[in-house]
Amino acid sequence: MQEKVIQWFPGHMAVARRLIRENLSDVDIILEVLDARIPKSSRNPEIEKILGDKKSVVILNKADLADETRTAFWKNEYSATNRVAIAVDSKNGKGTAEILAACRTLLKDKLDRNREKGVTKPIRAMVVGIPNVGKSTLINRFAGAKKAAAENRPGVTKTKQWVRAGKELELLDMPGVLWPKFDDRITGENLAMTGAIKDQILDPVEIAVLLCGRLRERYPVFVASRFRLPDPLPEDAYDLFCLIGKKRGMLQSKGSVNEERTAAMLLDEFRSGVIGRISLE
Ligand code: G4P
Repeated sequence: MQEKVIQWFPGHMAVARRLIRENLSDVDIILEVLDARIPKSSRNPEIEKILGDKKSVVILNKADLADETRTAFWKNEYSATNRVAIAVDSKNGKGTAEILAACRTLLKDKLDRNREKGVTKPIRAMVVGIPNVGKSTLINRFAGAKKAAAENRPGVTKTKQWVRAGKELELLDMPGVLWPKFDDRITGENLAMTGAIKDQILDPVEIAVLLCGRLRERYPVFVASRFRLPDPLPEDAYDLFCLIGKKRGMLQSKGSVNEERTAAMLLDEFRSGVIGRISLE
């Protein structure tokens, strides 16, 4: 399954790299949006090379879905390397004020110089990140309207658009599509579980069983409570998957579990956060 993704990755990456580079000189700062549940896996490692020494803020988005202790850990990790990371819930607007404050702090010298010259220009920021991390939602939240087009289909290149976000900020929705990169199995799994890689490309049953294994290991209490399962949970991930399907009455004619329906339900409940606030990294 991974081969498929890797095959079309290099060409798309070259396009994204070119488009980002072409627009880099037009912006003051980069807002790098990651999924707080998988900050490592949702970061395209090439981005560092593309951005060079441009100032940037890391947005740990979907923080409302992530485990708070893990998000705090990641914020610390970033600050240890002198980077600013902010936990944001773009859907509800939590944390967005901190983004502007961080931009002001990081660009203080430039803003001071502008002020001395009497120049009042908004901060120009480019919002970058792999599909589905919430870039459009963040931009819309800032702009206060449905302005950024949510377009995730493979191969679709978005047209460049500036979005005014109040008096002080102007946002550039990332030109092109920055595909995730994963050479290792775990990164691919993380992207699949959170829905960053579409279910049409990967086998949802396989992903849901893997998710059961992870949940069993890290968040057994959430799983037991959500699906009303007895203690202890089955050792084996597939057994747990089947038990969950049975509990929800997702059975086929001969009494075996309907794997497709169980997988769809499990992935949906995980992704929407109803099982609990869960981080995979
Ligand atoms: P993109 O531009 O980076 O591709 O991502 P986009 O904004 O389209 O967001 C992808 C999905 O993630 C959307 O859900 C969006 O609502 C959701 N999302 C974005 N930010 C947050 C957040 O901070 N918290 C939560 N809980 N969800 C977030 P969707 O199911 O694709 O669409 P919809 O159901 O919202 O219409």
